[in-house]
Amino acid sequence: MQKKDVKWGEIGFGYIKTDKRYVCNYRNGSWDRGGLIEDADIVMSECAGVLQYSQSVFEGLKAYTTEDGHIVCFRPDLNADRMYNSALRLEMPPFDREKFVQAVVEVVKANAAWVPPYGYGATLYIRPYMFGISPVIGVKPADDYQFRIFTTPVGAYFKGGAKPIAIKVSDFDRAAPRGTGNIKAGLNYAMSLHAIVTAHNEGYSENIYLDPATRTKIEETGGANAIFVDADGNLVVPKSDSILPSITRRSIVYVAQNYLGIKVTEREVLLSEVGNFREMGLCGTAAVISPVARINDHDNIISFADNQVKMGPVLQKLYDTLTGIQMGRIEAPEGWVKVIE
Ligand code: PLP
Ligand code: COI
Repeated sequence: MQKKDVKWGEIGFGYIKTDKRYVCNYRNGSWDRGGLIEDADIVMSECAGVLQYSQSVFEGLKAYTTEDGHIVCFRPDLNADRMYNSALRLEMPPFDREKFVQAVVEVVKANAAWVPPYGYGATLYIRPYMFGISPVIGVKPADDYQFRIFTTPVGAYFKGGAKPIAIKVSDFDRAAPRGTGNIKAGLNYAMSLHAIVTAHNEGYSENIYLDPATRTKIEETGGANAIFVDADGNLVVPKSDSILPSITRRSIVYVAQNYLGIKVTEREVLLSEVGNFREMGLCGTAAVISPVARINDHDNIISFADNQVKMGPVLQKLYDTLTGIQMGRIEAPEGWVKVIE
């Protein structure tokens, strides 16, 4: 198959329109068969639930070209599960999980020419999403929904690739206790836009959010979970009911324990203790594992000693093993890699 004429090594994390997208409609109480279309535009009522009350949830996963030339994706069943839960929380009809995985396979196959070849550090980002499409004016769920998946080739999420980034403690809160922080709803990102623009204007790559109830504990950034490495080389993972259950983070925990023999503690992490850690990473589908050099907490600079020039040694081992599994260089745990073709 002839790949598209893209400078694979030079793309960032942006939208490039690919050939086919998957669409499935929910009308009169049930989902239709669904299938691939070419039209990337959506026409809907001016009063659609998503436009008025932000009734939308989404997912993000990637397709990779492996060293031996296959196209695979990573744990799509967990994205299906998470989207199911996100939909229930926003009173949307959940999308069947097997059908979700099948739709991912179909849409990636149809855009195989857009999957970056092995070795360029680029992947095909897959964006499943679902939204209320019928009119609602009183505050209530829509009657009709659309589920779609588009794909776009991407490179590194943070400018500068693997270079350690600087982030700041946000003065805004991301997710309330018992709110929607643990689901992947568009509204969680809309409220973070002012904070991210502020951070970027001040020269930071991201915000680290604190728990809104006490503002003493680390939650996560706008688009990734946080992980830390302590002075003994152990992994410390913040635990909270209001952060997104990152599939990357859960995979890293497994890899640390079962591939690398690294001790993992999942617990509440105080902002006041993070200065004791040697490495901090941001983990997610888009971020993969991105090293953090420092956090600015209102002009108190917290530096991570082993992340100053490049990713520290423990994060590097985790990164190499995780991406090795994703790219087929290291044997994956049963069920983690879905071969597409
Ligand atoms: N946290 C937030 C707020 C995110 O947007 C993402 C991205 O999906 C993650 C964490 C990482 O989750 P995952 O590893 O499942 O991509
Ligand atoms: C992802 O990692 O898939 C996300 O959805 C995060 C987003 C900031 C791009």
